Amino acid sequence: MSERLRIALTKGRLQDKSVELFEGAGLDCAPVRNPGRRLIHALPNYPLDVVLAKAPDVITYVEHGVCDLGVVGKDTILEKGGAFYEVLDLGFGRCRFALAVKKGTDFYGTYKTRRVASKYPNVTRAFFEGRGMDVDIIKIEGSVELAPILDLADGIVDIVETGATLRENGLEPIEDVAQVSARLIVNTASMKLYKTEITDFLSRVERELGGKA
Ligand code: PRP
Repeated sequence: MSERLRIALTKGRLQDKSVELFEGAGLDCAPVRNPGRRLIHALPNYPLDVVLAKAPDVITYVEHGVCDLGVVGKDTILEKGGAFYEVLDLGFGRCRFALAVKKGTDFYGTYKTRRVASKYPNVTRAFFEGRGMDVDIIKIEGSVELAPILDLADGIVDIVETGATLRENGLEPIEDVAQVSARLIVNTASMKLYKTEITDFLSRVERELGGKA
């Protein structure tokens, strides 16, 4: 008998795009389209249960094996890390991490230790360590653009999609830090235990992605 798989989807924008992709692959996602306050949904025409979760929790559930699969942004993967297989770039949720400063500022033109604010301290640390540059990192929970405006930081490392938030706040990107898009991740034990089921799911998704390319 075929095992029912469980997948964790990142709530919000990636959820909508994931549903579009899975529906294209023939999975009836009606319960996920009208979730109400329910957080777990059984798909009616495919042996898959969908869990809706916040991005870092998607990784936690997949790492612990309570979900076999997950859809999560590369931004969260880079920040949180973890032991799982990253098997597919799903192509949506495309944006980038960039270093941004107040327009016209010379970020590199001083010997003083720079302060950089970010929701992603690990990504920020890795980027500047790669440069051999010592910076003070300040963790901010949201709207990081405020930090340079309020003179709390010399720069920010943040997600840039259209660039509108930076522009409208008098900031400009000066360097790309990493490219971001949604990824399909798989628990390492599930990959062996449910190889047949996971291969079937992956090949459906890959076929749909290939058809769109
Ligand atoms: C993200 C990011 C930027 C904005 C970038 O914030 O932190 O603020 O989107 O998008 P843009 O380049 O298209 O303007 P999000 O909407 O996730 O809100 P948050 O800052 O509260 O986390």
